[in-house]
Amino acid sequence: MNGTPTPLAFFATAAKGTEGALRDELRELRLYHVRADRGGVHFEGRWEDAWHACLHSRIALRILAELARFDAPDGEALYDGVRAVDWSPYLTPHQTLAVSAACRSGGLTHTGFISLKTKDAVVDQIRDRVGARPSVDRKDPDVSLFVHIVKDKATLYLDLAGESLHRRGYRAEHLEAPLKETLAAAILRLSGWDRATPLVDPMCGSGTLAIEASLWAANVAPGLLRTRFGFERWACHDATAAARMEDIRRIARAARRDDLPEIFGRDIAPAAIDLARANARKAGVQPRFAIAPINALEPLGPVGFVVVNPPYGARLDADTSLYDGMAWSLQRMRGHTVAVLAGSPGIERAFRRGPDRWQLLYNGDIECRLLIWAM
Ligand SMILES: C[S@@+](CC[C@H](N)C(=O)[O-])C[C@H]1O[C@@H](n2cnc3c(N)ncnc32)[C@H](O)[C@@H]1O
Repeated sequence: MNGTPTPLAFFATAAKGTEGALRDELRELRLYHVRADRGGVHFEGRWEDAWHACLHSRIALRILAELARFDAPDGEALYDGVRAVDWSPYLTPHQTLAVSAACRSGGLTHTGFISLKTKDAVVDQIRDRVGARPSVDRKDPDVSLFVHIVKDKATLYLDLAGESLHRRGYRAEHLEAPLKETLAAAILRLSGWDRATPLVDPMCGSGTLAIEASLWAANVAPGLLRTRFGFERWACHDATAAARMEDIRRIARAARRDDLPEIFGRDIAPAAIDLARANARKAGVQPRFAIAPINALEPLGPVGFVVVNPPYGARLDADTSLYDGMAWSLQRMRGHTVAVLAGSPGIERAFRRGPDRWQLLYNGDIECRLLIWAM
């Protein structure tokens, strides 16, 4: 025995298709035992490592800490398993709690029942110990639990993020069909962009890709824009922990770089450009936004990357003129890497040449392919 504490197991959740990008990102963040899985990436470490992941990951949606694993073939076993965990480090009767659940192939089949049983076990334990119980707040809880049951094996997680990490805090309002910030960050990484060459999004909408590119190139930790994470509301997050977290934020702030490549956002809609500028101001970055149709796109000097999330939907697939025009404009970008998030087969068809590589991604419920060409 050398006194080293056993590492905790964490799971960073991610949008389907972005697990590989998140794995690479978490390895770069020097987390340990990083392993991609369906819906996210496992890693191990201390609590502080998970705080780091909350602050620095651009792609993770949530960071979950695994608290317990046990057999839960029925409600009673679930209740006992949850009650066996000591909840006092996280919750006092003055705090609020929310439980969500997912299950597959087992005796317990109703997520509502699983959440209720779990909540009962937690609040009963606290009431029996201190005579009062925490209440439930589904919208803005101090502590969020997640129960995952597969084939009667339950895993109980605590959510460190609180609000989903894609809510960076810079997007005040949005136009239709904005990309989630986390998906935009994954697309940038998957495109192969090196953060040193120029980049343009010629259909930028509310500016998510250009803003995420600027934050990444400037080495700004995306979580710095948020006031706090879920774990900062736990009972055990005392003054010492708060001071340590402040240190971690201070170090992250000092890592900002100013030597950015040129990053551009263009859109045909003036309202989109107004919104993109307002969002960038809130994010503290300055990509160069301008109103322009995609057919006015000129090669960048020096050559760089075009990353774009065009409009899609059945109606546009039927009217091929937008996609034909887009493909024509992008094919003129010789020497550039072009990455297109295609949510319609019509987009790929318009290029009349298969991509050099592609990756399946989901933009919400829409199955997309990130198509990448070296033009
Ligand atoms: C799916 S949205 C992009 C959303 C963006 N990624 C975001 O996160 O907000 C597509 C954008 O393409 C723009 N657009 C449509 N036709 C265009 C054209 N011919 N040239 C430039 N932009 C165009 C629309 O105004 C819209 O903002």
